[in-house]
Amino acid sequence: MDTEGFSIAIMAAGRGTRLKSRRPKVLHEIGGRALLQHVIAAAKQVVPANRIYCIIGHKAGRVQAAMAPTGVEFVLQAEQRGTGHALQILKAYFVAKGVKISEHLLVLSGDVPLIRPETLAAICETHLTEHAAMTILTAVPADPTGYGRVLRASTLQPEVTAIVEQKALTREQENAPEINSGIYCFRTEALFGKLDLLSTRNAHGEFYLTDVAAMLVADGKRVVAFQAESVDEVLGANTIAEMMHLDAAMRLATARRLMANGVTIFRPDTCVIDAGVEVGADTVIEPFVQLLGATQIGVESRIRSYSVVQDSRLGDGVLVRNGCVLDRAEVGDGAMLGPYAHLRPESRIGEQAHVGNFCETKNVRFGRGSKANHLSYLGDAVIGEGVNIGAGVITCNYDGAHKHTTTIGNGAFVGSDSTLVAPITIGAQAYVAAGSCITEDVPEGALGLGRSRQVVKEGWATSRREPAEAEKNC
Ligand code: UD1
Ligand code: MG
Repeated sequence: MDTEGFSIAIMAAGRGTRLKSRRPKVLHEIGGRALLQHVIAAAKQVVPANRIYCIIGHKAGRVQAAMAPTGVEFVLQAEQRGTGHALQILKAYFVAKGVKISEHLLVLSGDVPLIRPETLAAICETHLTEHAAMTILTAVPADPTGYGRVLRASTLQPEVTAIVEQKALTREQENAPEINSGIYCFRTEALFGKLDLLSTRNAHGEFYLTDVAAMLVADGKRVVAFQAESVDEVLGANTIAEMMHLDAAMRLATARRLMANGVTIFRPDTCVIDAGVEVGADTVIEPFVQLLGATQIGVESRIRSYSVVQDSRLGDGVLVRNGCVLDRAEVGDGAMLGPYAHLRPESRIGEQAHVGNFCETKNVRFGRGSKANHLSYLGDAVIGEGVNIGAGVITCNYDGAHKHTTTIGNGAFVGSDSTLVAPITIGAQAYVAAGSCITEDVPEGALGLGRSRQVVKEGWATSRREPAEAEKNC
């Protein structure tokens, strides 16, 4: 569809009073992304970013900072006096900036996040073919309470007579089933001609954009309804409960998308999978797993229950056992993690490597086939291939002021319960005796032994015990 004559306005200035939150409504997240980010992403599929005007107001600085990478234009509605007022501000901005006004304006609500670009294209198309001054995207949900209602002259005809807000519904109108989605196409000139005539004589004392519908009808202009195919897509998020309803719908859609690509997800209703997550075929996701942010997982991997994977890249055939936490980590093909491994940012685990029970890593390169199977902390380290890290090994990377690097060469063996005081280098094929505190480099092929020699005192324990035994017997 040709959207050459269209610009898009996104109304995102509102406070979101009903959320009872300090965070601006449009920055609340569903499916792991801000509401507004979803709306902007859909808008960008319809027109280029430089024809998208995002109207911001409540905590505008925060909203703009979060959305700046999208490349859309921002328009400030410093005082939020309603959806009609938001468009008045946009009109004034166009005039002040000398923006060439497009023939049609697609208006979106920043709190209607599941809208699909296909539906936006369809409403634009209907708007053109119907030669309408205003086209309203509508739906008929199971419970229309709370929404503005779209009234038609006849249910069989697309012509609308008015939009009536919930609080203004008369007794007869209360059962009107068709809701206003808050998404509209306008002939820009027709809209701009009416904005100055809006009034605040209503239950909220605000300028309602919805009042424009009846005004255009009164002028004999054509106002039509276009019903969305899916109701979910046009649901608004005004309360946390509504938000979580949309979140669940979006996450289920993500799980379905992955399953359609060959991923097995046991009990998808228990998993939290963000919209941008990618998973390869034949990977298995067990119940109660969270895959968040920009996480990517290859094919034939398995993520066991209670693991949380954030912004990480996992290769093929990776096994993440129960209860692992990964944050900005990279894991090579065939590696095994956990149970209860904690991979912090910049952990790069090589192919076939093992990072086992209660191991923590941070800013580590852990070479191919290396193993740290139990109770280790490996931070700021470059560890070669085929290295064995014994149980309880600690890299002492921090001296209270600075971080230092531990370097371990290929094939080295670090015995259990050793502490490696960085900066330190353990050469390739070197051996560190168990229980050592290593403060000097261990050259290639050498043994590093950093503990006091064991003393054995024959009969010592027995002699200590004997007088006590003797006392007891008196
Ligand atoms: C609005 C519609 C209602 C519709 C519903 C769909 C009006 C008067 N009513 O109601 O018919 O059924 O959406 O979800 O339009 N905003 C601004 N500036 C403002 C006020 C609001 O930019 O001064 C933005 C909000 O951030 C929000 C959007 O406009 O993204 C809608 O505002 P909201 O207050 O949520 O309107 P609703 O009561 O949901
Ligand atoms: Mg709303």
